[in-house]
Amino acid sequence: MVFDIISRLAKNVFGRKIRIYNFRQLKPTITMNDSINITDIESELATKAPQQILRYALENHNNIAVSFSGAEDVVLIDMAHKIRSDIKVFSLDTGRLHAETYRFIDRVRDHYNIDIDIIMPENDKVEALVKEKGLFSFYKDDHKECCGIRKISPLRRHLLTLDAWVTGQRKDQSPGTRANVPVIQDDKFFAKEGSVLTKFNPLSNWTSQQVWDYIRAFEVPYNELHDSGYVSIGCEPCTRPTGPGQHEREGRWWWEEATKKECGLHAVNIQSDS
Ligand code: ADX
Ligand code: SF4
Repeated sequence: MVFDIISRLAKNVFGRKIRIYNFRQLKPTITMNDSINITDIESELATKAPQQILRYALENHNNIAVSFSGAEDVVLIDMAHKIRSDIKVFSLDTGRLHAETYRFIDRVRDHYNIDIDIIMPENDKVEALVKEKGLFSFYKDDHKECCGIRKISPLRRHLLTLDAWVTGQRKDQSPGTRANVPVIQDDKFFAKEGSVLTKFNPLSNWTSQQVWDYIRAFEVPYNELHDSGYVSIGCEPCTRPTGPGQHEREGRWWWEEATKKECGLHAVNIQSDS
């Protein structure tokens, strides 16, 4: 069976360093200078529960971290922590988060007794932006430049230190941009040249209701802003509560079109998906 999988996956070759996975034993079996189409793995993993997807991710990657900002991510931290207590977690501190979010990050740190890498943007780039355009340029231009400096560059820098990352993206979070988010992706957008970066989205097929059922059932810490009508939470100036009947994404960058409501963290969704 293992040889079947290896030979099936080895058919798609594009000249990048890759790892070939052993599904049954959940261990990487071969590393070689080839690339694979991970659609086969995706179709097997897509039918599994998030905990099984996470177990697969953690057992196949030592150098893997959860990208943490919201409710979904703490669900993943909770699940991952039950598999491996030394799970790596990082959070991008844009400098514009709500005070409640900073408190939340520290609560999660204490609750699970884990380190959280807080990743900061480069000072000189932030200083140059606000000197030239002020502190709220995103309302006049759009959010791309500010997100690029405060989120994307720091994320890129941090991902160069990892070979896999885990996010809390769900398909129904943003019909305009996330409807096809797979549970595993070959993240060509952030991969180091010549290397493979694997991205896991174990909650892709979960609904918001399932996330919140898990939070209540396992008493998972959550951002207190959720008790004030906030659903999807990002930076303070670019997030607002949503009312009944509004989609959660309408609380983010509300002055822009739905199809532009991605800051670039998940550019692989919009670029070529694996
Ligand atoms: S965003 O691209 O619009 O900002 P969203 O808030 O929906 O993303 O979150 C989707 C996933 O992106 C989260 O589950 C998390 O894995 C990751 N993410 C978003 N913001 C951050 C952040 N500030 N730090 C780390 N990860 C983040
Ligand atoms: Fe800047 Fe808003 Fe993007 Fe935060 S969400 S980095 S404040 S544009």
